[in-house]
Amino acid sequence: MPTPPRSSCSSSPHRQHSAEAVELLQVPRSEVLDAVDDDTFLVVLTHVHYLTGEIYDLPSVTARAHARGAWVLWDLSHTVGAVPVDLRACRADFAVGCTYKYLNGGPGSPAFSDVRGDLQAGLQPVLAGWMGTRVPSISTTRTARE
Ligand SMILES: Cc1ncc(COP(=O)(O)O)c(C=O)c1O
Repeated sequence: MPTPPRSSCSSSPHRQHSAEAVELLQVPRSEVLDAVDDDTFLVVLTHVHYLTGEIYDLPSVTARAHARGAWVLWDLSHTVGAVPVDLRACRADFAVGCTYKYLNGGPGSPAFSDVRGDLQAGLQPVLAGWMGTRVPSISTTRTARE
């Protein structure tokens, strides 16, 4: 697993992390910023809270995490279609979301993910979906008539 890249606002060296060393820390929203320290690898946050509408300041939280050497993954499910967001401008690392809420995609509409451009080459997806393999299973499927 690659280490989080040093951001333009970070001065500390980044640590190596292994899957065996990962500890999941869950804290109230109000304590998230204080909980991010030099041992933090990834901060996972919902940008807009589904119940209260509370919104994190995405640029400053991202910058704060980067300053500690951590990546940030934003859940934008309650953001897209309702609140403007510029992932590129704040160099957000990762984002995910669904399209059936404020994008009005309806049942079955696709989810989305975003990986910052300079991180893409160094990451390998752990899960490859139906069309995510070199030879998708659909191309090897035979119909009853064949
Ligand atoms: C914060 C958040 N993220 C993601 C989702 C999408 O979840 P799912 O992929 O299960 O539809 C939801 C749906 O309610 C949500 O509230």
